[in-house]
Amino acid sequence: MPCFSQNQSMMAPLAFSFFFLLISFFSFTSEAGSVGINYGRIANDLPTPAKVVELLKSQGLNRVKLYDTDSTVLTAFANSGIKVVVALPNELLSNAAADQSFTDAWVKANISNYYPATQIEAIAVGNEVFVDPNNTTKFLVPAMKNVHASLSKYNLDTNIKISSPIALSALQTSFPVSSGSFKTELVEPVIKPMLDLLRQTGSYLMVNAYPFFAYTANADKISLDYALFKDNPGVVDSGNGLKYTNLLDAQIDAVYAAMTALQYNDVKITVSETGWPSAGDSNEVGASPENAASYNGNLVRRVLGQSGTPLKPNDSLDVFLFALFNENQKTGPTSERNYGLFYPSEKKVYDIPLTADGVSDAPSSGVGKSQTPVSGDVSTTSHQGQTWCVANGGSSEEKLQNGLNYACGEGGADCTPIQPGATCYNPNTLEAHASYAFNSYYQKKARGAGTCDFGGTAYVVTQPPSKYYYHQLLFAVCLVNLCCRVRDLRISHRILSGERCMWPEFLEPFFRILPFITRV
Ligand SMILES: *[C@@H]1O[C@H](CO)[C@@H](O)[C@H](O)[C@H]1NC(C)=O
Ligand SMILES: *[C@@H]1O[C@H](CO)[C@@H](O)[C@H](O)[C@H]1NC(C)=O
Ligand SMILES: *[C@@H]1O[C@H](CO)[C@@H](O)[C@H](O)[C@H]1NC(C)=O
Ligand SMILES: *[C@@H]1O[C@H](CO)[C@@H](O)[C@H](O)[C@H]1NC(C)=O
Repeated sequence: MPCFSQNQSMMAPLAFSFFFLLISFFSFTSEAGSVGINYGRIANDLPTPAKVVELLKSQGLNRVKLYDTDSTVLTAFANSGIKVVVALPNELLSNAAADQSFTDAWVKANISNYYPATQIEAIAVGNEVFVDPNNTTKFLVPAMKNVHASLSKYNLDTNIKISSPIALSALQTSFPVSSGSFKTELVEPVIKPMLDLLRQTGSYLMVNAYPFFAYTANADKISLDYALFKDNPGVVDSGNGLKYTNLLDAQIDAVYAAMTALQYNDVKITVSETGWPSAGDSNEVGASPENAASYNGNLVRRVLGQSGTPLKPNDSLDVFLFALFNENQKTGPTSERNYGLFYPSEKKVYDIPLTADGVSDAPSSGVGKSQTPVSGDVSTTSHQGQTWCVANGGSSEEKLQNGLNYACGEGGADCTPIQPGATCYNPNTLEAHASYAFNSYYQKKARGAGTCDFGGTAYVVTQPPSKYYYHQLLFAVCLVNLCCRVRDLRISHRILSGERCMWPEFLEPFFRILPFITRV
């Protein structure tokens, strides 16, 4: 008999309570982050700001980020209960840097005029300044300092933070995540002084992070499931052994690692923009309504259901989705005009939950680690829907043993074949036995959401798992390539840099026959 089958008999009623406990554990032990949205207005067909405020309220969104300090918009948000991040645009950086009298006037006219009726919580000083074609980088920190001094002057500095959204291109290295570092030429002139200022003022770094860009440029190398927070084997960081189950966490932790390398590991990060377009040009691989719904929907689940990233497990992750509306006057590729969750008519481009209540009402909710595909999305299901559950060999022995005990005990998995002398006893390793038992349970539960977790020691795979018995062998091959402790052939790639971990071509036929060798 094959040691991994897809169809086993149903029923294991006790199991439910165990998973309910697990779910509770992941949902409630840590503080969740918050979800806000970017309200860009580069369009000529948007609803009035007053209507936008009503729209946000109706969606339960209570944080918004703007790209300026437009008077009508700030007035509309007065007494709305919605917190607002405003921006000082790049064009004003040189003036703001030159003279505090400029920022005094700016803060007076554009901030203190509206605060506190409008709950301004932060000022983004510039946006992605390091990639501004006008090269405004040298103005950034002086401008931030002046804005902060002006806030102090009006006694606003304790309640209103200053920061500046950086693009991920500020990083020199982002893979492995733990080796993240900033571009050398930025470190001394701007990164360190900026982080100093953020630390002194109790503020945080704003990061614009787009897994979509990494994916669309490397669609052959990056797993779409990994980019969209769907079930996937994950990527283990070869530096610190932490496992990443989604690309956004990896991107954010690369920035944390870069800050830690400069000894600013106490400064926190907010994701000031992240999103996925619902349409794109033909070369913008992955831009689709289904993928955008999956990315944003699963992101909301992840942010509201779990606290930090693998490197910063205790720091909740706050994000601002990009963006509220499709903006018809943005230039560039088609995707640029299609990041919106809403059409200008206020009709939804796709339907995703945006609040904790929405998440718990949605059909596929509550599955601990937020890797559940948004329901209805069939664009990337594995071929013929075949999936198996296997143990993660990187888990602690104790956790694996607990999972195995549960699966074979209460869980009601069929564990006779892994008893000594039985057909699937070999290979006689904890990982292989746990994989067998986990999969048996998973199939028994009809591959239901949340039935392949076992305290985080299991994951779903889309290839017959006999291959996974041969980790040790694969690992040896990995060592030759020096690039992966990743134990899955499908995502042996370098995450962000786009460099690839190449499996030597000549090994391919060997991998193909492995499953047959391993069948008992
Ligand atoms: C207020 O901000 C707008 C744009 O954000 C700017 O054009 C205007 O000059 C600012 N007011 C002052 C007094 O600086
Ligand atoms: C660059 O600076 C020029 C002159 O100040 C201005 O007209 C232009 O809009 C700026 N471009 C960008 C992208 O900020
Ligand atoms: C931008 O300005 C900095 C100094 O202010 C300079 O070192 C750098 O070469 C400039 N970059 C470009 C692309 O002009
Ligand atoms: C997170 O919090 C837990 C419990 O308070 C603590 O044991 C753990 O060391 C913290 N982890 C980090 C990385 O700070």
